[in-house]
Amino acid sequence: MSFNTFGHLFRVTTFGESHGPAIGCVVDGCPPRIPLSERDIQPYLDRRRPGQSRFTTQRQEPDAVKILSGVFLDEAAGMQVTTGTPIALIIDNVDQRAKDYSDIKDKYRPGHADYTYDVKYGLRDYRGGGRQSARETAMRVAAGAIARKVVPGLAVRGALVQMGPHRIDRTRWDWAEVDRNAFFCPDADKAKFFAEYLDGVRKRGSSIGAVIEVVADGVPAGLGSPIYGKLDGDLAAALMGINAVKGVEIGAGFGAAELSGEQNGDEIRMGNDGKPVFLSNNAGGILGGISTGQPVVARFAVKPTSSILIPRRTVDRYGHETEISTTGRHDPCVGIRAVPIGEAMVACVIADHYLRQRGQVGETPSWPFSPPRAP
Ligand SMILES: Cc1cc2nc3c(=O)[nH]c(=O)nc-3n(C[C@H](O)[C@H](O)[C@H](O)COP(=O)(O)O)c2cc1C
Repeated sequence: MSFNTFGHLFRVTTFGESHGPAIGCVVDGCPPRIPLSERDIQPYLDRRRPGQSRFTTQRQEPDAVKILSGVFLDEAAGMQVTTGTPIALIIDNVDQRAKDYSDIKDKYRPGHADYTYDVKYGLRDYRGGGRQSARETAMRVAAGAIARKVVPGLAVRGALVQMGPHRIDRTRWDWAEVDRNAFFCPDADKAKFFAEYLDGVRKRGSSIGAVIEVVADGVPAGLGSPIYGKLDGDLAAALMGINAVKGVEIGAGFGAAELSGEQNGDEIRMGNDGKPVFLSNNAGGILGGISTGQPVVARFAVKPTSSILIPRRTVDRYGHETEISTTGRHDPCVGIRAVPIGEAMVACVIADHYLRQRGQVGETPSWPFSPPRAP
């Protein structure tokens, strides 16, 4: 049984391989009459695109997206909008070099999915890793661009907050910095450090892991489907489903285990606008699997790239012990390009839950409630 679709009402199905002619996706369930053109999607793909700095793979893919279906000119509005039918998107693969991968045709890269694909399916597309390649994640980013338009006022931003053992200084966090350096890093000083550090890693023929934080602002209170479709559970699954992700935290995450109850529970006061104000956000904007209206905060850990030049012991598909050193074009820190992918997955999950909330509850109840009248 295969699973290439995620989401319930906002459903995304992706297809395609790293070295096939194209990759694509179908987004089904997007509401009608939302303005949508390639120009709304392309900027997000450009942020994830390979070959933009010496810190990412040199594969040159323009990643130019085409919308094949699901949009039409709304004459009254004078713009192209979604029709409510499936939105099919496609990106041509233009820079395939299958010969780069002849060394891994029969050998398994330690840390990669070569062995598991082989043992499960009995064959695998070794050209760039086929379907196991993160090339597929371009389509998640494209779907995420549509998801962002589904939820009014939603803003999803991501940042790289750790590379190897080196964390950013959170007091220096500046969102404007994220688009000024090659690492999506909100701490300008640390970004300079990362450049030197990653050059060293790359020149050694090695790779390194990273931690990414995604913050979603403008998430209305009430999203999430307890018990088995909790918002945090779905976010964790979506982020864990990104290639190379080995850990996900929401809010204080694993750090919550070190806190006492009075340190962890986010105290509540009344704001001037009649809404509750939480005095901290250890919950990461989610309680009981339901959004509180605070920013939703998720972090995920990305392992180091498995395809490295340093020789590693392994076996081949015929059961012989051997060694492998992977040449070809690989990111020395895949965590960098995972930033826009993490944002997209969070946007898709929130859009899905926004539509689910509308479907089950309709108008979110107006809060605060009136006290019961005396009998
Ligand atoms: C943006 C991105 C780019 C990646 N590029 C590479 C790469 O160039 N070489 C590599 O070995 N792994 C790369 N990976 C990781 C592999 O796709 C991933 O490790 C592999 O599919 C096995 O899956 P798993 O790590 O989730 O178990 C990349 C991951 C991401 C998110």
